[in-house]
Amino acid sequence: ESIAVLYGGVSAEREVSLRSGQSIVKALTEEGLNVTGYDVRSLNDLVDVAANHCLVFLALHGRWGEDGQVQAVLQSLGVVFTGSGMAASALAMDKIRTKYVWQGAGLPTPAFYRVNKASLTTLLWSNMPLPAMVKASHEGSSIGLFKVNTLDELKWAVEQALQLDDEVLVEQWVSGREFTFAILASEVLPAIELKTQHDFYDYDAKYVSGDTEYLCPVSLMQSELASMNELVLKAFDVLGAQGIGRIDIMLDEIGQPWLIELNTLPGMTDMSLVPKAAKHYGLSYGELCIAILGQAVD
Ligand code: DAL
Ligand code: MG
Repeated sequence: ESIAVLYGGVSAEREVSLRSGQSIVKALTEEGLNVTGYDVRSLNDLVDVAANHCLVFLALHGRWGEDGQVQAVLQSLGVVFTGSGMAASALAMDKIRTKYVWQGAGLPTPAFYRVNKASLTTLLWSNMPLPAMVKASHEGSSIGLFKVNTLDELKWAVEQALQLDDEVLVEQWVSGREFTFAILASEVLPAIELKTQHDFYDYDAKYVSGDTEYLCPVSLMQSELASMNELVLKAFDVLGAQGIGRIDIMLDEIGQPWLIELNTLPGMTDMSLVPKAAKHYGLSYGELCIAILGQAVD
C-alpha cells in the first residue's frame, strides 16, 4: 500500500502547499518509498484517499488542512497521519487563542488586542499599541498580515484583515531580531535567524524574492540559545503539538524572547525554513521527510 501525500487544499496558502507537497512526493519517491500525491479539495476527496491508505503525510497549509478539520476526519476514520492531532492543530491555527494558552502557561508573548466586527464600534483605538502587527487570526504565510506605524494605518489594516477573517489580532511590534525554531519529535533543530530586506518577513520575502538572509548557526550566547530552546519546547508542549512544528520568536533589544506563533504543518518548499534547519542538523530533505513519517507511526 502506498503512502498518501495530501497537498493543495482550498486555503489562501494553496500555492505554498502545492510546492511543499510536490517536493515531499519527489523526495520520498527518491528514498524508495511508494507514495501517491493527492490535491485534496473536499471532504469527498479526503474520504476517498483515507479509504485507500493507512498512512497519510499532510502537506496542507492553512484553513481546512492545518486547522484540525482534516485531522478530525482522519482521526475518526482511524487513519495515521503526520503532525499534530485535531485539538493542537485547531489551537495553533488560531493566533489569538494560541497566545491565551501561552499567557496562561506563563510564557512570554507580545501584548495584544482581539478585534472582531462587533467590537469595532466600541474599540478604544488610542489604547492600541503602535507600531503593531495586524494579523488575520487564522491565516499563514503572512497572508492578511500588516505592519502599522500610525493610527490611520492601523485602522486601515484592521479593516483589510477583517475581510479575510472574523477575528483580527493587533499585536505589539517587537523591535529586535527574528528567529525560527523547528521541532522534530522532542528535539529542537538548529535555530535560524532571519534578516529580511523587507519591512517584515512577508509573503514575497518567504516565497518569491529570495533576498532574505538566513543565519545558521545563529550568533547567540550558549545560555541564551539554551533558554530559547527550552522555551520553544514548552510552547510546543502546552499547545499539545506533536511530531513536527516550527515556532517563530522575536528577541527584543534587551534579550527577552517573545513567542509569536506555532506552525503545525510548516512549509516544506525549497525556500522553507524547516528543511534548512534539518540540513544544519545533518538531515537531508528526504531524511527529514522520513523522520516526519516516523513520528506519525511510532
Ligand atoms: N504557513 C507556512 C507554510 C509556514 O509556516 O511555513
Ligand atoms: Mg504561520
